[in-house]
Amino acid sequence: MNIRSIAEFRRLAQVRLPRPVFDFADGGAEDESTLRNNERAFSRWALLPQSLRGAAQRDLSIELFGQRLQLPVLIGPTGLAGLFWPQGELASARAAQRASTVYCLSHGSVCSMEQLAQGHAGQRWMQVFVYKDRGFTRELTERAKASRFSALILTIDNQLLGKRERDWVNGFAIPPRFGPRELAQYAIKPAWWWAMRQELPKITFGNYVRPGEPQSVAGLAGRMGSLLDPAMNWRDVEALRAHWPGPLLLKGVLHPEEAAQAQKLGIDGLIVSNHGGRQLDGAIASLDALPSIVDRVGSSMPVLLDGGIRRGSHVLKALALGARAVLVGRPQLWALACAGENGVYDMLELLRDELDRAMGLCGLEDIAAISQARPILARADLI
Ligand SMILES: Cc1cc2nc3c(=O)[nH]c(=O)nc-3n(C[C@H](O)[C@H](O)[C@H](O)COP(=O)(O)O)c2cc1C
Repeated sequence: MNIRSIAEFRRLAQVRLPRPVFDFADGGAEDESTLRNNERAFSRWALLPQSLRGAAQRDLSIELFGQRLQLPVLIGPTGLAGLFWPQGELASARAAQRASTVYCLSHGSVCSMEQLAQGHAGQRWMQVFVYKDRGFTRELTERAKASRFSALILTIDNQLLGKRERDWVNGFAIPPRFGPRELAQYAIKPAWWWAMRQELPKITFGNYVRPGEPQSVAGLAGRMGSLLDPAMNWRDVEALRAHWPGPLLLKGVLHPEEAAQAQKLGIDGLIVSNHGGRQLDGAIASLDALPSIVDRVGSSMPVLLDGGIRRGSHVLKALALGARAVLVGRPQLWALACAGENGVYDMLELLRDELDRAMGLCGLEDIAAISQARPILARADLI
C-alpha cells in the first residue's frame, strides 16, 4: 500500500467502513476531550536534537519480559477487530508477528483465544477484566495459559462502560442488527459489506461462549456488561497475581499511588492508559500521566503507554519520558479496515520508518540512547 501516514489510514477507513463501525473505533466518551487531549499531549513536548552524536544506523529493538522485539510498538487489545476485516484478530496478529512485535488479544475479540492460538505462532498477550463472577475471570486465565499466551493484561479502567455517545446515536449493537437503517448504511459501503457478508451473522464475543454452553449470540453483549464489576479492588489484583505465574500487567493506570501499589503487589508491568479516551472523559492524557508514574516506580518495572500514538516521533517522545514501549489501538483498526494483515503490517512499518528517521535526526542510535538522553525533551510551551 502506498499510504504515507496514520491519518491517511484513518481517512481511508472512514471511506470504507459503515458509519457505525467507523465511529465505534474512532469515538470516545462524552465530549471526547480526553481522546483529543491524548493526541495533543505529544505536541506539548519538543525534541531537542543533537545531530552530531552520529547515529549512522539505528537499532529499534527492545527486550520486554525476556523476549526480543524488533519494534517498541505493540498492537494493543481492541475488542471486535473481526468487525473491521474478516478474521481481523488473526490478520492483525500475523502482521505483528511479521513486524516482530507483540499482539494483545482483547477479551472482546470476535475469534476466541483458542482460535487465535491455532493460527498464530508469534508472541501474544491476553487481556482480561475482573468479572462479578470471579470464577469466570479465573477460567479465562486458565484458557489463556492453555493457549500459551505469554503475558496477561488486567484492564482496570473498564469496571463500568464509558458513555460513548456516537454509538448511541448510531444504534451500534453486537450482534449487528439487520434492520432497514443498518442495511442502508451497509449498502453504501459495498466493499466492506461484500468482504464481511459471511462473517456478519457470526460476529460475537468469541471468548464468552463457554465450552458446553449453547452459542446464543443474542445475550452475550448484555452478559458482558453485567459481568463487569465496579467493586473490583486490590484484593482481586492479588488473587490474579497468585493465579497467573507469568508476566502480569495492569492496564489503565494513571495515578502514581496506584502504580506504587501495583509494584508492591508484585505486578510485572504497567500500561499507562485512559482506554483511548473511551471511558472517563476528563481523565488526564496518557502522556501527561507518564512521567510521575515512571518517577514513582523507577526503572526496574516496565512502564508502557498507549493513547494518541500517531507518529514515530510520538513513540520517541513516550520513550524519552520513560515508557519502555507503546501500544496502538485505533491505528491498528483503521489499517485493518484498509487492507487486513498487509494494512496492519504497513502501518507498523510506517511507524518503524518514522521512528527510525526521528531517532536518526536526533542522533540516537538505539533505544537505550533515548532514555540516556532524556533531556532531549522540553515542554514546548517553555521554548
Ligand atoms: C474499538 C476499540 C476497542 C477497544 N477494546 C478494548 C478492550 O477490549 N480492552 C482493552 O483493554 N482496551 C480496549 N481498547 C483500548 C485500547 O487498548 C487502547 O487503550 C486505546 O485504543 C489506545 O488509544 P489509541 O486508540 O489512541 O491508540 C479499545 C479501543 C478501541 C478503539
